[in-house]
Amino acid sequence: MAEEETKKLSISGPIGVFDSGYGGLTILRQIQDAMPDYDYIFLGDNARAPYGTRSFDTVYHFTLQGVKFLFEQGCPLVILGCNTASAKALRTIQQCDLQHIDPTRRVLGVIRPTVEALGSITLNGHIGIFGTPGTIQSRSYDIEVAKLYPEFKVTGHGCPMWVPLVENRESGNPGADYFVKQEIDRLLTADPDIDTIVLGCTHYPLLYDKIREYTPHNIEIVTQGGITAESLVDYLYRHPEMDARCTRGGQHRYFTTEDADKFADMATMFMGRPIEAAKAVIDR
Ligand code: DGL
Repeated sequence: MAEEETKKLSISGPIGVFDSGYGGLTILRQIQDAMPDYDYIFLGDNARAPYGTRSFDTVYHFTLQGVKFLFEQGCPLVILGCNTASAKALRTIQQCDLQHIDPTRRVLGVIRPTVEALGSITLNGHIGIFGTPGTIQSRSYDIEVAKLYPEFKVTGHGCPMWVPLVENRESGNPGADYFVKQEIDRLLTADPDIDTIVLGCTHYPLLYDKIREYTPHNIEIVTQGGITAESLVDYLYRHPEMDARCTRGGQHRYFTTEDADKFADMATMFMGRPIEAAKAVIDR
């Protein structure tokens, strides 16, 4: 085996979680709860969020920069805690980039595990997806659902205002009610038989209470944190060689491409405990 390959195989370190901004913290929190002994690094590209209205090329380019940064910190495994990045960048990174960067490392997303879980949630197969305009336009959910459950009917609906509400800390504002109610009404007009709604954007759990308030009670609302955490536990069980490379020590580090203090304030609220953050420069 070439010396370079041997070195790559020996790389072990924290699990990386990437998002365009704060939303991925909703994924990280549940992963940490499920696997508290592991080390983690979170990167939020807050300086360039939101990604949801950006082109394929831009989301791919930004996401790849984020993944490379997390690889530089020693992460053998990176979770894209972002639907937009999972929809627009994951496949290219998995199929094209990894083989050049380091074929032994892995990047996983949030869409596939969410879709897998739907089979045991819906009763009538009518699924609604809320996501960023980018995620909905990519039709990634429709494609994944069609592979696993071809009999299901998927109705996607983009919510361009929801991420800005969260990123600008306006999710508790009464003005947010208008935008939440409006999108729910539109989705349920498109398919009144929906019995399961996926919050297909990791920022949306921060609007959960308002979404629940305006959604009929017979409709199940699916968030991704618990599903992603369960799927990761299962992945590491099935891949002991990767599990062995994920270091334990319970260390958590947080990076943002924006102001570190501002990020730490917001992350403290999301994570429910004091968080310190550092600034990362990734657009090199
Ligand atoms: N939280 C991300 C997602 O799950 C992206 C939001 C955005 O940057 O627009 O789609």
